[in-house]
Amino acid sequence: MYGNDFAPPAAGERTAAVVAEESASFRDVLDSGGRIEPRDEMPEGYRRTLIRQMAQHAHSEIIGMQPEGNWISRAPSLRRKAILMAKVQDEAGHGLYLYAAAETLGVDRADLLDQLHDGRQKYSSIFNYPTLTWADVGAIGWLVDGAAIVNQVPLCRCSYGPYARAMVRVCKEESFHQRQGFDILHTLAQGTPAQKAMAQDAVDRYWWPSLMMFGPADSGADSGGHTAQSMAWGIKRFSNDELRQKFIDMTVPQADALGLTLPDPALTWNEERGHFDHTPVDFTELFEVIAGRGPCNEQRMAHRVGAHRDGAWVRDAAEAYAAKHAPRATAGEGAA
Ligand SMILES: [Fe+2]
Ligand SMILES: [Fe+2]
Repeated sequence: MYGNDFAPPAAGERTAAVVAEESASFRDVLDSGGRIEPRDEMPEGYRRTLIRQMAQHAHSEIIGMQPEGNWISRAPSLRRKAILMAKVQDEAGHGLYLYAAAETLGVDRADLLDQLHDGRQKYSSIFNYPTLTWADVGAIGWLVDGAAIVNQVPLCRCSYGPYARAMVRVCKEESFHQRQGFDILHTLAQGTPAQKAMAQDAVDRYWWPSLMMFGPADSGADSGGHTAQSMAWGIKRFSNDELRQKFIDMTVPQADALGLTLPDPALTWNEERGHFDHTPVDFTELFEVIAGRGPCNEQRMAHRVGAHRDGAWVRDAAEAYAAKHAPRATAGEGAA
C-alpha cells in the first residue's frame, strides 16, 4: 500500500485469538504458497485485516490525486500537463481496482467511503503535505511513488488473490510515476541555479516524510503485533524497517545521479551490513499527522467530502438507470 503509517488494528484482529480460527484448508493454502480466493474459507480476522488494509490503500490512491492535481493547470508545458494528467488519472484507476478488490470480501465501497469521510478509516499521511512548487510534483513521483513501489511489489505475492492481482497492474503504473518524477527533477537539476535550488528544496522537504511512509519500527509498542500477524497470513512479506532500508538503498544512488543531496549527513555505505546507514527517523511528526494535525489534513478531507457531495447526481443517475432496467428483467421472467 502507500505506506504502513496507519493506526494499529483493533484488538480482535491480533495473533493468538485469530490463529485459533484458522481452518486446516486455509493453512494448507498459505503453507503451499497458494492464493485465498473470495469464496474460500478464511478467518474473520484475516478478512477484517484485508478490508482495512485494502480500504486504506484505496483511500490513499484517491486522496493522493489532490496534491498533484493541484499542479495540472500550472505544469510548465503541454507535455508535462499531459503526463501529469495521465498520472493523476492512474491514481483514480488504482482506487477503483482496490475498492473493487475490497468488495470481493463482502463490503460495499459506499460504506468504505463513508468511513473515510467520517474519519474511521485513514489514508497515507504523506498526502497531508502541500505541493508548494512544481519541483514537489517531481519529488512526489520520485520519492513517494518510489516508496509506494517498495511497499507494493511484495503485495503482488500477497495471499489474497484479488489484492495480489490488482497490485500487478498498479506496480507497473507506479514504476512509470516514479520515472516521471525522476525526469522532472533531472530536468530541474540540470537547469538554472534557481531551478536546481527548487529541486533540492523539494527533496529536502519530502525525504523524511517519505521514510515515515513505511511506518514506525515493527517491534515497538506501536506495532501491536500487526506486522507479525500479517506476515503469518502472507499479507505482508517484510517488516517496516526492512522495506525502509530497501528504499534508502535504492534511492541514494539515484540522488547521486540527479546531482541532488539527501538531507541526512549520516547516509554512508556500510560494507559490513551491505546497506546504507542513516539517522534514525524521528516519528514525532508522523504521529502528529496521523492524529490529524498535519499541514493539509483538513483541506484534503474537506475537498474529498465536497467532491463526493458534488458527484451525488452521478451516483443517483446510475442508480436510477439500474432501477429502470431491473423491473423490465423481472417482468420478462414473470411472463415466461
Ligand atoms: Fe497509485
Ligand atoms: Fe502513483
